[in-house]
Amino acid sequence: MRFDNKIVVVTGAGSGIGEATARRFSADGATVLLVARSEEKLSKVAASLPSDRTEWISADLSTEEGARALAAKAQAMGGADVLVNNAGIAVGGTIEEVSVEDWNKQIQTNLTGYFLVTKFFWDQLKAKKGNVVMTSSVSGLGGDWEMFAYNASKGGITNMVRALALDGAKLGIRVNAVNPALTKSDMTKDMLDDAALMAKFRERQPLEAPADPSGVADAIAFLASPDARLITGVNLPVDGGVMASNGQPPQ
Ligand SMILES: NC(=O)c1ccc[n+]([C@@H]2O[C@H](COP(=O)([O-])OP(=O)(O)OC[C@H]3O[C@@H](n4cnc5c(N)ncnc54)[C@H](O)[C@@H]3O)[C@@H](O)[C@H]2O)c1
Repeated sequence: MRFDNKIVVVTGAGSGIGEATARRFSADGATVLLVARSEEKLSKVAASLPSDRTEWISADLSTEEGARALAAKAQAMGGADVLVNNAGIAVGGTIEEVSVEDWNKQIQTNLTGYFLVTKFFWDQLKAKKGNVVMTSSVSGLGGDWEMFAYNASKGGITNMVRALALDGAKLGIRVNAVNPALTKSDMTKDMLDDAALMAKFRERQPLEAPADPSGVADAIAFLASPDARLITGVNLPVDGGVMASNGQPPQ
């Protein structure tokens, strides 16, 4: 119960990595505040967790209004000890295919959204000497084919985490990221059904492809815990070994 009496906010908690993360912190004793866009999914996840330690709110975190509403709710609960910025979308396509509107949506959700939420939680985190864990991606550490907009958003998070860690250190706030590779979630469900594609992923993701989201959640909980008290500004690949490769194909 290492998060007993701690308030942990998980964005994008309606499914996938966020849902697994909320479950993990809750199992470790935390009071969790879940947020995502879809009330339907979120209310189901919340209903399966202890009612006296679970709150939820639906909000669009790509907007200032949504991010402020979430921070206000957390403040009313006593202020966040841990903020998990995880909500995200993935826009695929080449530069010829991706519209200006889709580019803006990608950056607004994945990068500006993380900025807005972190900004409006900063005072709470200062008060609690808390920490932030962001779900970035291996797509923030290297390029993917036909995913440049997603790569740009996650690459932004990679360096935002480092710089915020420097600013946060003097305030007692740690800031880290996890960088998962292919993980089972609503975002990837179309890919998971493609057997040929999964075979290609298994060639490049040596330990577990596709990964179970609980493995990512466990790494997030570690970074948020006192065991990681000396760790800040880190982008931790939670990728089954993808980033261990120099990119040459297996023989
Ligand atoms: N699944 C993977 O293979 C994988 C790999 C690396 C990184 N990631 C990252 O993990 C994070 C979680 O994704 P997932 O795979 O669990 O997908 P998912 O689709 O299951 O979950 C995404 C969550 O984000 C929420 N969300 C999206 N836009 C939002 C907004 N504007 N406001 C509020 N909530 C919003 C959704 O409601 C949902 O709850 C994302 O940041 C994603 O980029 C996923």
